[in-house]
Amino acid sequence: MPELLPSLKAGTQQEHQLLEDRLDLFNRVTDLANYRRLLEGFFTLYEPLEQCLGNVIDWRALNWDFDGSRKTPWLVEDLINLGLSQTDIDSLPRCPNLPEIDSASKAVGSLYVLEGSTLGGQLITKRFSSSLGTAPDRGGRFFSGYDEGTVAHWRAFAAWVQSVEADLHAGEATIAARDTFRSFDLWLNRAPFS
Ligand code: HEM
Repeated sequence: MPELLPSLKAGTQQEHQLLEDRLDLFNRVTDLANYRRLLEGFFTLYEPLEQCLGNVIDWRALNWDFDGSRKTPWLVEDLINLGLSQTDIDSLPRCPNLPEIDSASKAVGSLYVLEGSTLGGQLITKRFSSSLGTAPDRGGRFFSGYDEGTVAHWRAFAAWVQSVEADLHAGEATIAARDTFRSFDLWLNRAPFS
């Protein structure tokens, strides 16, 4: 019986709702300038967090293609399509308050948040493509995620979590998932995407 994923979902429901409510995306992001700042906010958290997760454990040994699933390259592609240069991107200040990830359980809990965000992305991409004209090659690569493959990728992630969960500590994973949501909340809501 899979247990970890449903328990991560239940254990972070409040944090997800709070983040969604406080982001208030569709009222706050009404033009491409706001949209670009939103993506800058995601990029400056995803990049250091994925770097940290990549260093904490050996994902290959656990049979998860972490490098092939990184979302940072999508965010870079979007920022370039929205007019930033690589130098602009390099000079964006990175999120200083990352969740503390010092174990495999915490890494998996944090990764749950990053992978799960592709599910919400499916709804977000529909809204922004109609309101702002974004598309995968027009600043919408990150939110479009795996497109029609999103559910399949999520199922693969769920199956993988199930295959490793016996060796993980559910409490630690949940703490890390909550902390990850909190980092997003604090960072993305620190000012109107500035
Ligand atoms: C306004 C912004 C957001 C909206 C409207 C939204 C919406 C949603 C929706 C509709 C789902 C369920 C999809 C499904 O079950 O098919 C979902 C799942 C999820 N979202 Fe969000 N989301 C938002 C932001 C975020 C962010 C910023 C993150 C993390 C950085 C995130 C993390 C997750 C996770 C982890 C799940 C998976 C829950 C589970 O089934 O275990 N979401 N979101």
